[in-house]
Amino acid sequence: MPGVYEGETVTRRRLFSGGALAVGGIATAAIGLPALGFALGPAFTRTEPHRWQDVGPVEDFNDTSYTPKVIDLVADVADSGKTPVYIRRYNSALDGRKGSDLPYLAISNRCTHVGCPVHYAQAAGMFLCPCHGGVYGARGQVMGGPPVRPLDRFYTRVVDGRVEVGARFSLDSHFNRFPHPRDPSQHLDGIWKYLYPARPTT
Ligand code: FES
Repeated sequence: MPGVYEGETVTRRRLFSGGALAVGGIATAAIGLPALGFALGPAFTRTEPHRWQDVGPVEDFNDTSYTPKVIDLVADVADSGKTPVYIRRYNSALDGRKGSDLPYLAISNRCTHVGCPVHYAQAAGMFLCPCHGGVYGARGQVMGGPPVRPLDRFYTRVVDGRVEVGARFSLDSHFNRFPHPRDPSQHLDGIWKYLYPARPTT
C-alpha cells in the first residue's frame, strides 16, 4: 500500500485523520451533552401536583386593597416552602374584563426582574421592589424600573364561602395569561414568549 511502511496496516494520513475526528467528537460531546442535559433535564423533573389552598373566608378580603396571606409553594419543607400572596376581590372598575373569570386577584410577591420579594405599599396602592427600584401598579403591571412583565398571579376560586388559591400563572403586559409560569427576567411580549418557553419546574 503506498505511504505505508513495512508492517503498518494503515497510512499515516488516515491515522491522523481518524485521530483528529475522534478528538473532535470527544470535545463536541464534552460541550454538547451537558448543554443538552441542562436544556432537557427540567422536562423530566417531577413537579408538585396542583392543589388548592384555603386562604380564609370571603369576608377577609375587599375589592380595593390587598390582604396578605401565606401559602405553600412547596409542601412539607416548612417555612422555606412558603410565600406571601396579596389577595383582593376582583373589581371590574379597576381590573377591566380580562381576568374576570377569577373571583379574586392573588398576586405573587416575586419580582419579575430577578425575583426579590416585593411588598404592597397600601398608601401608594403600588407594589414596590427593594432591590433595584421596580414599581408595579395596583394590578401588578410594571410602572417603572427593570421588571420585564407584570407580577405573576395565582388562580382563585370560592368554595363554601372560603377563598382558595391554586396554581401560579404568568402574564404579558396586556394581561394575557400564560398558564405555565415563567422565571423572573423572562419577557412574554411578542417574540420573547417563544424565546423563553415554560419550564415545568418553574
Ligand atoms: Fe425587583 Fe430587581 S429584583 S427590581
